[in-house]
Amino acid sequence: NWTMVNIADESIAAVREQVGHKRAICALSGGVDSAVAAALVQRAIGDQLTCVFVDHGLLRKGEPEQVEKDFVAVTGVNLHVVEAQDRFLAALDGVTDPEEKRKIIGREFIRVFEEAAREIVAGTSGATPQDGSPEADEPVEFLVQGTLYPDVVESGGGTGAANIKSHHNVGGLPDDLQFKLIEPLRSLFKDEVRALGEQLGLPSEIVWRQPFPGPGLGIRIIGAVTRDRLDILRDADAIAREELTNAGLDRDIWQFPVVLLADVRSVGVQGDGRTYGHPIVLRPVTSEDAMTADWARLPYEVLQRISTRITNEVREINRVTVDITSKPPGTIEWE
Ligand code: XMP
Repeated sequence: NWTMVNIADESIAAVREQVGHKRAICALSGGVDSAVAAALVQRAIGDQLTCVFVDHGLLRKGEPEQVEKDFVAVTGVNLHVVEAQDRFLAALDGVTDPEEKRKIIGREFIRVFEEAAREIVAGTSGATPQDGSPEADEPVEFLVQGTLYPDVVESGGGTGAANIKSHHNVGGLPDDLQFKLIEPLRSLFKDEVRALGEQLGLPSEIVWRQPFPGPGLGIRIIGAVTRDRLDILRDADAIAREELTNAGLDRDIWQFPVVLLADVRSVGVQGDGRTYGHPIVLRPVTSEDAMTADWARLPYEVLQRISTRITNEVREINRVTVDITSKPPGTIEWE
């Protein structure tokens, strides 16, 4: 629409003005805010921008591919992928406490991003402009962040302070890696960011993505995080999401966590055999802002399809339950 065209054009011009011939980096999370911010800055400064995608292995099925293939195809963005699954799994080994998991994931994310940023600043990453291109000699001076207006208000409204509420945004970089911030979404609300994303031609899987916590599936496994458990949860989650989409309910549901009770087993029966598998919890909620939430009354047919498919298709799961707790007293996530 006209307003969004205006906002896009004005923001692109402003970023061009701000950055000049310098270079910028950006961390992509797979979420809508960082994707729209990166796409906008790419339009403004092209190959002067390098995006970093840390694949920590805690994303849902298909999400890394959406960033690495679809997003790159649409935007032409210069992407530096860090395969960090082993590192995150090693750091999380045996950890069951929710806050401990959050701290570890946040800390590793900053470290991995910092290493990537150093390589890019030093021009050794392979994703930076080729020698001889006009940008190759310019220093990296800017960091792109997908800060939205509500974030600005929440953190006191200071100008350019890298003081973002979520530990998962890149705020805590060391002193010798200080960047100036580019925050092209600072005056926008979420629905405006989505409209802008559509305007920029981003894939609808990214633009309409439901909120997803920074620590990802790491806090949807109740118990220690392992590769096998992540695979089980990813399979079950993909089925739940697919059936929600097929029922046309994506945009009515605020979030739909699927939670693996990895340390719990219960007895079931399948065919001739007794099973001793894990339960999974479906946690569909409606909400305006995540501060309060209500459990979503999903149609029985949809719940039934999800239950049948998960127990048929995910061998390790033999029981599907639905969480009918509001927030408060429950939180949206289980950890
Ligand atoms: P709760 O579970 O507290 O979640 O009702 C409220 C909203 O915040 C998300 N959430 C997080 N987001 N890092 C994030 O970036 C986190 O550690 C985290 N924990 C919860 C949650 O998905 C919901 O949207």
